[in-house]
Amino acid sequence: MSKHISTDVLIVGSGAAGLTTALKLAPYCTVSVLSKGQLSAGSTLYAQGGVAAVTDRSRWQSHIEDTLNAGVGLCHQETVEFCVRRGQEAVEWLIDQGVGFTTEKNHEGATSYHLTQEGGHSERRIFHVDDATGKAVETTLEQQARAHPNIHIYEHRLAIDLITAHKLGGKKNRCLGLYALNCGSTEVETFVANHVVLATGGAAQAYLYSSNPDTATGDGIAMAWRAGCRITNMEFMQFHPTCLYHPKAKSFLLTEALRGEGATLHLPNGERFMAHRHAQAELAPRDIVARTIDHEMKRHGLEFILLDISHKKPEFVRNHFPNLYQKCLEYGFDLTQEPVPVVPAAHYTCGGIMTNLHAETDLPGLYAVGETACTGLHGANRMASNSILECLVFAGACAERIQAQLLEKIEQFEIPAWDETRVTDSDEQVVVSHNWHELRRFMWDYVGIVRTNKRLERAKRRVELLRMEANEYYGNFKVNRDLLELRNLVDVSNLIIRSAMSRKESRGLHYTLDYPAQKSITEDTILVPSNFHAHDALTRASA
Ligand code: FAD
Ligand code: SIN
Repeated sequence: MSKHISTDVLIVGSGAAGLTTALKLAPYCTVSVLSKGQLSAGSTLYAQGGVAAVTDRSRWQSHIEDTLNAGVGLCHQETVEFCVRRGQEAVEWLIDQGVGFTTEKNHEGATSYHLTQEGGHSERRIFHVDDATGKAVETTLEQQARAHPNIHIYEHRLAIDLITAHKLGGKKNRCLGLYALNCGSTEVETFVANHVVLATGGAAQAYLYSSNPDTATGDGIAMAWRAGCRITNMEFMQFHPTCLYHPKAKSFLLTEALRGEGATLHLPNGERFMAHRHAQAELAPRDIVARTIDHEMKRHGLEFILLDISHKKPEFVRNHFPNLYQKCLEYGFDLTQEPVPVVPAAHYTCGGIMTNLHAETDLPGLYAVGETACTGLHGANRMASNSILECLVFAGACAERIQAQLLEKIEQFEIPAWDETRVTDSDEQVVVSHNWHELRRFMWDYVGIVRTNKRLERAKRRVELLRMEANEYYGNFKVNRDLLELRNLVDVSNLIIRSAMSRKESRGLHYTLDYPAQKSITEDTILVPSNFHAHDALTRASA
């Protein structure tokens, strides 16, 4: 008999979004946290730049305006204000948990937090821990979560699919829990909870070159879609302009804070090209910098362009960027002495599961927080360091919502165990690995920084074939991690392609040669699954 675990709240994912939600709820109920790898594996661990947050109310408006500008008319003003106004509380909560943000001393010897700057920000407002903010955040939250008696941690558990009341014949739909693969024992376990939170991160692994860790396969987005939730704005995949170009560096990120502290971008002949392109030059919003780099690389047939901070004092570079300095040295580059080769790579999924200000999705009992959600904060292009802020703010909002409902009586169902009677062991795992590679290659070539109708059509034909094959495998063979992630990546890539095809304009991160102009009306792309039930659906308003 496979394991059956009941808990008040089930959280899938243990990055900033998942662990913050868990810690905020743990004083009131039992919380189980699932993570498909070790607890710390996820994008949060790798965040470099920091957390954008304004502690002086008189500067809120400028953070709001910068976010709206970066999002090119598609941000939801209400969400932007909601996040910016809760920024101070969010960083103070992190400080209370033990995150030691970098400080500086002024001329009189008084200590304050050192704030850095990144693309799109018109002023310094980014709290950071040197150049490895994510590591400090993730390890601190991990420590707190492991120490809490109400938090039960299940590592190496890969959530497969949500269990809904409709699937079990219930009249009123609700999320009841999920099935998860125990990657150690290969058994499929059943997790049952009145409240399920998806905090599974983004989907940048859909692309061949990505700054993200292997966990970023869009599992939450794919699961929510299959369970009947609407998915929004998937065409807006963000490419980070500066990942180290080196055969051994797996798209190692060189933080935008380098440019915030004065680094410049150059062609191999030394020409500085961003200054002609945008008033903010290297600190223009990320979509513009990545697209300009892509254009210059294609125009000159380059494999990389150069990022240079060697004009700053070596001591300044080593003090501000100790980890990057060290890591670059390992790859043979001295940041203090020479420019380093960089290329763009898929970095952040701006779209995701449609949620409201309480992190509710279309499926009652199911919430989504962090990169997997689309709250309306980022619009057509996320501003740097607004992501961890969003994780923290919406984890708080989600926890408040769940806490308020903990005493409600919820209809209980007899939940069947996972059925493996009709499947066998996979005979040809090579199909799965081949399809992984094929998918990520054509997504990079056809659905990347610059798109056309023809490329998207090609991608659509290919993804449909891969979907058929992945579903056939899923239906016939015992599940394993690679197969499940491929199935999710294929579903999510299909959503990206469909969204990109439906946007007949260029806006923010979605740039197409067939519709280079921006329309005067602004509209989200909302994909509606066939099993969507309008009467259950969330309203986007805050209510
Ligand atoms: P993640 O931290 O990615 O966590 C996802 C979790 O879900 C993981 O625990 C994973 O194992 C788990 N999971 C996924 N699928 C399943 C499944 N099926 N079953 C069980 N568990 C599952 N943002 C900023 O604001 N500031 C920065 O400076 C910054 N720098 C960045 C640098 C890099 C290199 C990268 C990659 C991103 C950066 N970002 C930054 C973006 C930011 O780090 C992420 O958007 C954010 O950390 C996402 O947090 P999350 O909790 O939503 O997801
Ligand atoms: C970076 O440090 O450049 C990444 C910041 C972000 O993605 O928000």
